[in-house]
Amino acid sequence: MASIETLKRQVLAKGNLPTHVAIIMDGNGRWARQRGLPRTAGHKYGVKAVKKVVRAAGDIGIKYLTLFTFSTENWNRPKNEVSAIMNLLYETTRRELNELLENNVRLITIGDIESLSPKRRDILKDAIARTSKNTGLTLNLALNYSGRLEILQAVKQIAADIAAGKLDIKQIDESRFSQYLLTKGLPDPDLLIRTSGEMRISNFLLWQMSYTELYVTDILWPDFDEAAFYRALSDFQKRERRFGRVKQSSSER
Ligand code: FPP
Repeated sequence: MASIETLKRQVLAKGNLPTHVAIIMDGNGRWARQRGLPRTAGHKYGVKAVKKVVRAAGDIGIKYLTLFTFSTENWNRPKNEVSAIMNLLYETTRRELNELLENNVRLITIGDIESLSPKRRDILKDAIARTSKNTGLTLNLALNYSGRLEILQAVKQIAADIAAGKLDIKQIDESRFSQYLLTKGLPDPDLLIRTSGEMRISNFLLWQMSYTELYVTDILWPDFDEAAFYRALSDFQKRERRFGRVKQSSSER
């Protein structure tokens, strides 16, 4: 099998990289079960995969990487699992802050982080503030995030702005609507990677993924690495994106 360096070189040579890659990191629990370990061990190893992919994405020149880290539905998991995921997230953010700074990574989040415990929220906010001037990869963590709630929140704000006379109904178009979403200012994802074989969107970036290319791999998230990431990029490079139009050949123009 091709080495990581070879894969990286091939992807770089081809050009046409996605600007924004979104990932649903699934399969931590199954990975742990296969090894007779508690689910929380799967999440711990999942963090190792996160580090590999963040490094690979920055290295190859991806501009935006959005990771589905915790959905609003994930609160329904057993209490010890929820707190294990939260602790991993904060510990990793604190531990890796210097590496983010050294690698010019800007950290941002989408989702409701205000309802998290103040200590953990402050660690996140501190990392966001300290990396805010970085100009390399933007690492966007979807945390306590729900695509439907994001759309509802936008609709409510639009209604409020209309009621306050700040917005006219005629002004509402797709681009204006996007400005009310949590992803304001970010381009829509070009590529969605989902691990562990599930063919679902799972309430992730519902508005933003209208024309996103989907890539599903059977690899469980803790086993996902640089090579797997470059293979996903290479697959994307073969896609023909039409955005609802037909392919235009020169004779048809
Ligand atoms: C899905 O696997 C994974 C999650 C819900 C949590 C992902 C979180 C991390 C990897 C830690 C985040 C850390 C950073 C620094 C971003 P699953 O538990 O749904 O697996 P299963 O479908 O096999 O049960």
